[in-house]
Amino acid sequence: MKTLGIIGGGQLGRMLALSAIPLGVRCRFLVPKDDAALLDFGARYSQLDVAEINDFTHGLDAATTEIETIDPRIFTQVMQHAALWPTPAALDLKRDRRREREHLTALGLPQPKWSQAGIHADLPAACAQVGFPCRVKAASGGYDGRGQWKVNSAADIAAIPAEAAPYTVEAEIDFRGEFSLVAVRGADGDIRFWTPSLNVHRDGILVRTEPDVNGTVSRDEVAEGERCLRTLMQSLDYRGVLAVEFFRTGAGILINEFAPRVHNSGHWTIEGAVTSQFENHVRAVLGLPLGSTALRAPVITWNVLGFWPDRQALLAMDGLAVHDYGKAERAGRKIGHVTLTNPDAAAIASLESLLG
Ligand SMILES: Nc1ncnc2c1ncn2[C@@H]1O[C@H](COP(=O)(O)OP(=O)(O)O)[C@@H](O)[C@H]1O
Ligand SMILES: [Mg+2]
Repeated sequence: MKTLGIIGGGQLGRMLALSAIPLGVRCRFLVPKDDAALLDFGARYSQLDVAEINDFTHGLDAATTEIETIDPRIFTQVMQHAALWPTPAALDLKRDRRREREHLTALGLPQPKWSQAGIHADLPAACAQVGFPCRVKAASGGYDGRGQWKVNSAADIAAIPAEAAPYTVEAEIDFRGEFSLVAVRGADGDIRFWTPSLNVHRDGILVRTEPDVNGTVSRDEVAEGERCLRTLMQSLDYRGVLAVEFFRTGAGILINEFAPRVHNSGHWTIEGAVTSQFENHVRAVLGLPLGSTALRAPVITWNVLGFWPDRQALLAMDGLAVHDYGKAERAGRKIGHVTLTNPDAAAIASLESLLG
């Protein structure tokens, strides 16, 4: 029996654990927040001190993380006793959007025109360099659309908080649609892709995602996207699941960002693919053979934001899988997701009205 260490206490760690158990893999958790979705598993809030981390790593076969933004010294310390995937080099790029963009630039991968500003006073020049409209993003700490400001003209810059510095500035893309590619790279360098995910965001937060069963994303776009992921994974000596979010434009695809972990746009793979992103991440990290990423059935996933709709009504729907992360309800917060298998128009309409 193998033992996997999971750093982070949210829904991603929880779903990793749920997929690891049937493989006979025991999970141990390092949970840095006390509102964690993993508390249901008996995981305890950790102070992340040296003694606790040593306890955590004792006898692990490998460790992984669902969060990039914690103190990097924790990763360094874990690595002294256990193999950690992805490596700190990959995690490090996500601590600062400027480093992420610089890395993509160095690899020559397609992305929106961008610049950076160290302090608020640098924003007018950085925005002018990119052109209007543009989007200013806090280099660190943003997620689910937080820490971003659309800038239509120089007059909008004053409203951006100075304490959010440093920033990236990027062209505002008038996209046809958003999609992501989720892939897994195994210990032997084997890379497998799931069907592309079509993503719909509202106010910067993912609300709906589904495998592209109708070929909305063209073959050329998929081929270019896969090239981006291969290049990125190889550059990072990557192991595990990695996701890249893309914009589809009239002039080709552009990388919005990547995530060195399992990703919200891959949640549909639990019901919709032969092997889920979570199971394949566990397999990759432990050096086990990868499972098939083939599509099993058409599915659609919706995030549950803020508050649960009537659960009786949800559970009464045929073919609907409910994933409750065990988190407290709070306006705008991602507290779960639901996935509908073999969706038809009537079921989609009634579900979307239930979810609001
Ligand atoms: N440059 C851009 N042009 C147009 N829309 C954007 C741009 N950057 C972000 N967005 C929109 O905001 C969403 C969230 O932005 P993203 O950079 O992915 O932040 P987060 O880290 O919060 O996911 C994107 O999925 C997209 O819908
Ligand atoms: Mg994003």
